[in-house]
Amino acid sequence: MIRDEEAQLLTFRLLERDVSSPATDTSTPPLQRSPVAQRRWCLRPLQLLTRREDNGRAVKGLSRDPQGDLLLEGGELVSQEEKERLFKEASEYIRLFYRECGRGGAPDERLAEVRWEIEQRGTYRQTSEELRYGAKVAWRNSTRCIGRLTWESLTVRDLRHLRSAEDILAALIEHIRLATNGGKIRPMITIFAAQPPVATQQAGIRIWNPQLIRYAGYHQADGSIIGDPAHVELTEQLQHLGWRGGKRTPFDLLPIVIQMPGQEPKMVALPNNVVLEVPINHPNYPWFSKLGLKWHALPVISNMCLAIGGLRYTAAPFNGWYMGTEIGARNLGDSQRYNQLPVIAERMGLNTGSDRTMWKDRALVELNIAVLDSFGRKGVTIVDHHTAARQFMQHEQREKQAGRCMYADWGWIVPPLSGSTTPVFHTAYEDRTVMPNFLYQEEAWKSSARPPGCPV
Ligand code: ARG
Repeated sequence: MIRDEEAQLLTFRLLERDVSSPATDTSTPPLQRSPVAQRRWCLRPLQLLTRREDNGRAVKGLSRDPQGDLLLEGGELVSQEEKERLFKEASEYIRLFYRECGRGGAPDERLAEVRWEIEQRGTYRQTSEELRYGAKVAWRNSTRCIGRLTWESLTVRDLRHLRSAEDILAALIEHIRLATNGGKIRPMITIFAAQPPVATQQAGIRIWNPQLIRYAGYHQADGSIIGDPAHVELTEQLQHLGWRGGKRTPFDLLPIVIQMPGQEPKMVALPNNVVLEVPINHPNYPWFSKLGLKWHALPVISNMCLAIGGLRYTAAPFNGWYMGTEIGARNLGDSQRYNQLPVIAERMGLNTGSDRTMWKDRALVELNIAVLDSFGRKGVTIVDHHTAARQFMQHEQREKQAGRCMYADWGWIVPPLSGSTTPVFHTAYEDRTVMPNFLYQEEAWKSSARPPGCPV
């Protein structure tokens, strides 16, 4: 495993351990992969076909896109029905793109091009502008997100051309650096190559971690857990891959794991100097710092699939900035996470013997004050739930003015603290999934050895 000091010297270094022949931990079963699945992963020989260049010229060329999707051949593998389905979704998005981006002309020419490409290859390539706008609209359509007011400000990194796990891991670390921006958080998404058509039986690129920055959780012999209980399973998976674990503090940074289609997962330790963390202090309670709490500045969700125009970007990590309650009311407060309320209440001298003293509520408020104050003093962007809720109401207004319906998931939008003091509590929302959007996908270590439809 990379030691911290080394990780700081080298920007990053890969752990290339063949998990099918574990060198040290023989108690760990290797990832199962049947010969059938192995064969499915293989790239088939490149094919010559006629394709149209961006300028519309027809040329004979390799079926590998020079900009590079993972596997571009496969048109003959994809059923007509599947092609129709893809074209329908593609054309819905292309029309939205032309409508909203004021492109003047009709989308007909572009639609014809997309149809042709789907016919030939079973998939199509989005232009960089289509991709960029699609990512923003996916954010706009995320019904569980309260922070959508600034959806247009998303910085989109189009890295569909990256081929190797090494390059992708480096790009992920660069994402953290760029988005952290010394504390002035920039909403950002990095998009890697789309998943090839389902019929080719090729999985997409997957990042195993639910977020790029997460803390390990270790089961102890006495049944207790050190670290984040939400990540015990991931921690164990990474240990199966050869990670020796960190120093067993409550805040050990997990390495990032990436899995390219048909390859073994690769792991990289996060260089310490790239992850900005905020120690949590309280403005009025000096004892608070002794709890030793901290949290990372940047929440980068990395396990969701970005769906635009029928294409699936299975690796497209994105971030906004934190709302205080995510850390104060959930990550550090939940009894099944860091469970800090009993400790805080005790330090506050509250009577924890009865629910009716509201010791939980009082401790919760102080913890949330501490989170907001600590981030603020460190110059790290964070929004309180009152401001976020007000901005969300403003977002709804703007969407109405733009002639669009705004959908929302009430249970997620209402903050987990003082809900009824925010305007969103008193508003009814319709929840509907419209595309483009971010979709959940099966945990990568469960689906990685099994392409869709493969009965292994
Ligand atoms: N709730 C998650 C966490 O606490 C982060 C989800 C995304 N949050 C955001 N503000 N963009 O880590």
